[in-house]
Amino acid sequence: MTIELTRESTVTATDDLQLSTGPTSDPALSAWVREIAALTRPDAVVWCDGSRAEHDRLTAQMVAAGTLIPLNPTLRPGSFLARSAPTDVARVESRTFIASHRREDAGPTNNWREPGALREELAGVFAGSMRGRTMYVVPFSMGPVGGPISQLGVQVTDSPYAVVSMGIMTRTGTSALAAIEAGAPWVPAVHSVGYPLVDAVGRARADVPWPCNDLKYIAHFPEAREIWSFGSGYGGNALLGKKCFALRIASAMGRQEGWLAEHMLVLKVTSPESKVFHLAAAFPSACGKTNLAMLRPTLPGWRVETIGDDIAWMRPGPDGRLRAINPEAGFFGVAPGTGWSTNPTAMQMLSQDVIFTNVALTDDGDVWWEGMTEETPEHLVDWRGEDWTPDSPTPAAHPNARFTVAASQCPSIADDFDAPEGVAIDAVLFGGRRRSNVPLVTQAPDWSAGVFLGASISSEQTAAAEGTVGELRHDPFAMLPFAGYHMGDYFAHWLSMADRVEHLPQVFGVNWFRRGDDGRFLWPGFGENSRVLEWICRRLEGTAAAEETPVGLVPAAGALNLDGLDVPAADLQELFAVDPAAWSQELDRLEAYFARFGDRLPAQIGQSVDRVRDGLRAARWTR
Ligand code: GDP
Ligand code: PGA
Ligand code: MN
Ligand code: MN
Repeated sequence: MTIELTRESTVTATDDLQLSTGPTSDPALSAWVREIAALTRPDAVVWCDGSRAEHDRLTAQMVAAGTLIPLNPTLRPGSFLARSAPTDVARVESRTFIASHRREDAGPTNNWREPGALREELAGVFAGSMRGRTMYVVPFSMGPVGGPISQLGVQVTDSPYAVVSMGIMTRTGTSALAAIEAGAPWVPAVHSVGYPLVDAVGRARADVPWPCNDLKYIAHFPEAREIWSFGSGYGGNALLGKKCFALRIASAMGRQEGWLAEHMLVLKVTSPESKVFHLAAAFPSACGKTNLAMLRPTLPGWRVETIGDDIAWMRPGPDGRLRAINPEAGFFGVAPGTGWSTNPTAMQMLSQDVIFTNVALTDDGDVWWEGMTEETPEHLVDWRGEDWTPDSPTPAAHPNARFTVAASQCPSIADDFDAPEGVAIDAVLFGGRRRSNVPLVTQAPDWSAGVFLGASISSEQTAAAEGTVGELRHDPFAMLPFAGYHMGDYFAHWLSMADRVEHLPQVFGVNWFRRGDDGRFLWPGFGENSRVLEWICRRLEGTAAAEETPVGLVPAAGALNLDGLDVPAADLQELFAVDPAAWSQELDRLEAYFARFGDRLPAQIGQSVDRVRDGLRAARWTR
């Protein structure tokens, strides 16, 4: 990945803002920047070039402001720790809005707002919201600049943390700007932390290390293809290329244009016979995407390489296959649970040039979080900035503490990571965090059953969004917080891929999180998930045996490679158990949920529910 380093320019003094067009030849872009500046009243406007010099200048400035703490350069070169406000640690789904013209186009799973009314509200909160601050203009590309699946955007923001993070997570700067100037369409994205340095009566007020506002708006206008985010500096709310553009706006674009924007990792698997497979997998936030994308197989001869860990854009290709890119350029990963034993690839990747948010600080100026090492340090400063010892009642790192790091630093990054035309997807996996019911792995017998599998994901809620951790919730396609339109239409769009893609991927369900009665995980997970990937790849090439169950095909006896693995037979039995009574309840829950989608629920989904019910009735299934 290369980013060109050139043009940068600063325009200062509020009076000039009306006149300045900025360093762009694009009249629409400069008019928009002027319009936002006139609304938000920053002291200065800086056009960002995405260069290393810019990154260094902004990080130094944030160190001076107390936003970033430089880590020990010997232990963690080029790296920083940010501590957010304790109220600004996750995505805020209750303040995330889809403002389609008609309420029914947003659907029952989204917070809908009438676009005109929302625009008026936003104009109110953004008025003067950047006073005393600098407004940065960040042109960016999602996907390789100019690629056939890529898209452009411009984020304006008053948060240098957002600028630096966008610089890691997307392809920002000069080449993206050049593509916009050449006439490509772009998505405007406005972001303000909502903490002007001038109070309501015009008095100056001091800045704080992590400015934000209790009032938050994460607003999307899918028809106008426009994003407005207010009040938060946290990743998913503030790095607008990610969830806001690449999922919510892009899913709506994809529906109109015949492609898919998905909450999916993409990985490349190479078998011992050097056969290559590309897999995409959707799991809800904090349910194992980054870990699977960087998995180090325990099975000899198998190799896994990383293409993406969070988002996939997939389009029918000229070859009749579904072709996927990772639109991002970096990883915004969950720190807790990432350790040398679980994810050594990620640990290597994090050795330098990382921005950590809400992890703990060690006494020698390095970082630590729960699960990073076997031993717990005797003393830490926790994510709130307070002294911490192993006796402290709260975790040292926030459960949703994150790292932000360039994909190019990932030791397992695939050679086709940057391929503009994407990779051909052989299989799609759906999964969630389920302590019961859902087997370790199943295969859908056909596309329609596969779409049902995606639609029926439920998962125990994690710390990635506000809400009660552990509570089971429906999260179809792991897109509940991210679908930019009606979920019933979304299912129909997935079903319609059968008419658009000649060689459809096979669809599988996985669940690494099933637990025994004693609460422990039944499956070792992490690197051992390569055993499940092996069965999936063998199914793709037609060499692995499967057995039918009412909920899909499962590995036939002996087909799942368990060589050298110490999982008790009883646990294995439980990992694949399909309890008819529990499943009957599961289907009741699902039917009640699907009923919310009314006549927008495709008939095939209801038929799939009936098919599973019939199967459960026909066979008293035990395994
Ligand atoms: P993502 O947010 O979907 O990318 O999820 P991550 O890969 O960051 O994982 C979220 C959390 O789940 C981390 O604490 C991981 O350690 C944990 N996790 C990931 N994969 C597995 C697995 O196979 N088994 C178990 N038990 N935990 C896992
Ligand atoms: P995750 O990404 O899926 O890696 O947790 C952030 C999010 O979904 O909020
Ligand atoms: Mn995500
Ligand atoms: Mn992740």
